[in-house]
Amino acid sequence: MKNTLPETGAFYARDRAWQPPALTPLYKTSVTRSPQRAMLSLDGTKTEITGPVFGHNILGELDNDLIRNYARPGEMPIGQRILVHGRVLDERGKGVGGALVEFWQANAGGRYRHKKEMYLAAVDPNFGGVGRTITDEDGYYWFKTIKPGPYPWMNWVNDWRPAHIHFSVFGHGFAQRLITQMYFEGDPLIWKCPIVKTIPDEAAIRQLIAPLDMNATIPMDMRAYKFDIVLRGRRSTFFENRKEGN
Ligand SMILES: [Fe+2]
Repeated sequence: MKNTLPETGAFYARDRAWQPPALTPLYKTSVTRSPQRAMLSLDGTKTEITGPVFGHNILGELDNDLIRNYARPGEMPIGQRILVHGRVLDERGKGVGGALVEFWQANAGGRYRHKKEMYLAAVDPNFGGVGRTITDEDGYYWFKTIKPGPYPWMNWVNDWRPAHIHFSVFGHGFAQRLITQMYFEGDPLIWKCPIVKTIPDEAAIRQLIAPLDMNATIPMDMRAYKFDIVLRGRRSTFFENRKEGN
């Protein structure tokens, strides 16, 4: 069951039946990350809610094209070309314009371009795996990328992450940053993932799975996946950095 509390005021109480508990030992690092003592409730301050703000002039021309933004001249990354698109919505289903949406992901082989990456899959010299965009007045966003591959990680023996794209959404102040992950329809690894399994509500998990959207496919070019992000309210997307409430 999702939040049945009244939707009043600027913030909502945490729904503990829907949000994962802080301590989920099958997701090993939750053991050291989870609070050891009772939590205190603090009100947000004006500074946290109103600033600092980002400027809209920060975006580069290729920031929402991960196929080209790190590719060498005349080259392209290897993998399945996809369009990811959707809307950032408020608790009433209204589009949120002017939100900074950032995304990062592994390449087609499941490999991040990171010094500490330990997976033996190859780095793609033409793929950086990071980008960003700003929603239009209807809350709509889109970007082009390569479908990421699943990858193994150091948790319990032979745990694999399903293919996923990490998302960050900024509102008008840095304290409003929300982080989540998008999965792909039909991936059998979703239901085996220890991180996904920390979410107790199946509907909350399904909200993180982007369906294949053949209506937005570009013929002879790329398939499309649709991912709407709901910032708050009963239909809120699960945000992994918002476990403490509001
Ligand atoms: Fe990841």
